[in-house]
Amino acid sequence: MYRTHNCGELRISDVGKQVRLSGWVQANRDFGAMTFMDIRDRYGITQIVFSLEEDKQLCESARKLGREFVIMIDGKVRERTNKNLNRDTGEIEIQVNGLQILNSSKVPPFTIEDDTDGGDDIRMKYRYLDLRRSPVQKNILFRSKLSLETRKYLSDLDFAEIETPFLIKSTPEGARDFVVPSRMNAGQFYALPQSPQTFKQILMVAGYDRYFQIVKCFRDEDLRADRQPEFTQIDCEMAFVTQEEVLNTFEGLTRHLFRHTLGLELGDFPRMKYDDAMRLYGSDKPDLRFDMVFVELNEVVKNKGFSIFDEAELIIGIKVPGKADMTRKQIDELTDWVKRPQIGAKGLVSVRYNQDGIKSSVDKFYDQDALQQWVELFGATQGDLMLILSGETDKVRKQLGELRLEMGRRLDLMKKGEFKPLWVLDFPLLEWDDDTQRFYAMHHPFTSPKKEQIEAMASDDREVLKNLRADAYDLVINGVEIGGGSIRIHDRALQAKNFKLLGFTPEEAENQFGFLLGAFEYGAPPHGGIAFGFDRLCAVLNGQNSIRDFIAFPKNNQGRDMMIDAPSEIASAQLDELALKLNIK
Ligand code: AMO
Repeated sequence: MYRTHNCGELRISDVGKQVRLSGWVQANRDFGAMTFMDIRDRYGITQIVFSLEEDKQLCESARKLGREFVIMIDGKVRERTNKNLNRDTGEIEIQVNGLQILNSSKVPPFTIEDDTDGGDDIRMKYRYLDLRRSPVQKNILFRSKLSLETRKYLSDLDFAEIETPFLIKSTPEGARDFVVPSRMNAGQFYALPQSPQTFKQILMVAGYDRYFQIVKCFRDEDLRADRQPEFTQIDCEMAFVTQEEVLNTFEGLTRHLFRHTLGLELGDFPRMKYDDAMRLYGSDKPDLRFDMVFVELNEVVKNKGFSIFDEAELIIGIKVPGKADMTRKQIDELTDWVKRPQIGAKGLVSVRYNQDGIKSSVDKFYDQDALQQWVELFGATQGDLMLILSGETDKVRKQLGELRLEMGRRLDLMKKGEFKPLWVLDFPLLEWDDDTQRFYAMHHPFTSPKKEQIEAMASDDREVLKNLRADAYDLVINGVEIGGGSIRIHDRALQAKNFKLLGFTPEEAENQFGFLLGAFEYGAPPHGGIAFGFDRLCAVLNGQNSIRDFIAFPKNNQGRDMMIDAPSEIASAQLDELALKLNIK
C-alpha cells in the first residue's frame, strides 16, 4: 500500500496516528537539526519533518531529496508549533520514521507553485508539470465536476447521451474544416465535425427525442482567448418542443450548474431581441453587469453646421456617470483609443457636465441650449461625461459597443463574482456578405425562419431577405456567448428553399446534405436544440477570459500542441499510402 491518507487529508484530530503518505517533494528546508519538507499531491500539501537527533541516516537521505522527487513516507502525525492556517493540513505535521524514494526527478524548468516563474511556452511544453500546479489543477477538476453535473441534470430529464462520428463529410458552410485523408478511398477526405448538428437532427428523426453529448468539435479558425481549434460543446437536441421549452430547459441547466459548482443562485434570465441588443449595446452579446445603454442623438444634433454629424447615418453616445472630471489629456487618449484600426472610429465627441456648465468638444456648433437638449436625452446629471460617435449605422454601433466595454473595464464595472445571464432572441436568418455577394446563414442553414416570415423567403429583394428573422437564440453570460441554438427546419421543401437562398444549386444541396433532406421525407418531427461552449462556460464561471486554462492539453495561438509538437510532418511512405503529394511553395 502506497498511502493510508492523501496529502490534503490529515487534521488535528489525527494527531498520534501512524500514517503513510506518497507524493511529490514541493519544498525542502534544511535547518541543520531538522529538515522540513512539503509533500504534495492532488489533494493538498502536508508538512513532514526529519529530525537529525531521532534518525541521522533518514535525515541525511531527506536532505538529498530534490524538488519533484516522488517519495513515500511513514510517520506519526503531531501538532505543529507554528501553525499555517492558510492550509487545510496546516495544524499538523508528520514526524517521519520511514522514507522510500519512488522516483527521482530532474530539476523542473519552472517552479511548481501557485505563482510560477515559467513563461507560457515553457509551461505548455512541460504541460504535465504545469498541470501539477494547484491553480491549473483546480480548473481541470472544476471542469470534471461541471461535466458530471451536466450529465446529472440532463439525464434526470431523460436526455440520452449518444455519440456521433468524428470522421464525417466536409461542408463548405461555417468555419474551415479540418480534413483527414482516407487511405482506403484514395483522393477522398473525411472532415472532423464542426459540431454534431446534422447527426443530432437525424437522431430526432430517428425518435430519440432528447439527446445530449459532451463532445469535441473542430474548427480551423483564427484563435483567440475564447477559441480553440478543438473545443467541447454540451450539445443538445429535443423533439416536439417550442423555443420556450428549449429556453426553459437550458436556463434550468445553467441554474443547476451554478448552484452545484459555485453554490450560487442566479437571478433573472432577461430576454432581448437581437435588434434591440444591437441598437442599445452595439453587440449581440451585451455585458449586462453595467448600464451605459446607447442614446440616439440624430434628432437633436443634425443641421447645426457640424458636417460630421450632418453627414452621419447615425449619431449615438453613452453616458459615463461621474466622469466629467476626465482631463483634456485623458479624453485625447480615449480619442486615440477609438481611432486605433481595431476600433476604426474617425473621432470622438465628448460632453462634460460640470459645476460650471456643460462643455463639449464641439462648442463651436452647439450652444448651451442645444447641449442642454443632449443632456436631457442622456438623462445626465452634474458630474457625468457623455461620449459620442457617429458614422454608418452598423459600424458606429460596433465601435461604441467596444468603447462601452472599455469604459466598463476602466471603471472596474465588470465585477468578479457577479453573473448576468441574458437570452438574445430573434437573430437574422441570413447575413449578406459584400465580398462574395451572397447570403450566409447567420446561425446555420438548418435554422428555421419565424413562421410568419416563411412567405417572405420567396422575395428577390435583398432588403426583405436581410430582415428575415429566425427562431434562433444565444445564451450570453457577462458578455460571453455561452451557447447558441435554434428551432430547426423539419420540412424538406422549406429546407430546400433555405439552401437556395444560401446560393446552393439543388445538386449541391443534394450532394452535401442529401441524407438530411432524405430523412425529412420519413416523418421528421418538429425539433430544436442548443449547444453550450463547455470550455467557455468553465472560464466564465471562474471569472476568467482564457479557455486554455480549462483544457488539460490546449493548443497555443498558432494551433500547436507544444508538448507533443503537433502538427508535424509525416513520412513519405505515409503520404504515398494516402496518395498525397505535398505542394509547399
Ligand atoms: P455555435 O457555432 O454557436 O452552434 O457553437 C455553440 C457554442 O460553442 C462555443 N464555441 C467555441 N468555443 C471554443 N472555441 C471555439 N472555436 C468555439 N466555437 C464555438 C460557443 C458557441 O456559443 N450546432 C450549433 C448549435 C445548435 O444550433 O444547436 C453550433 O455549433 O460558446
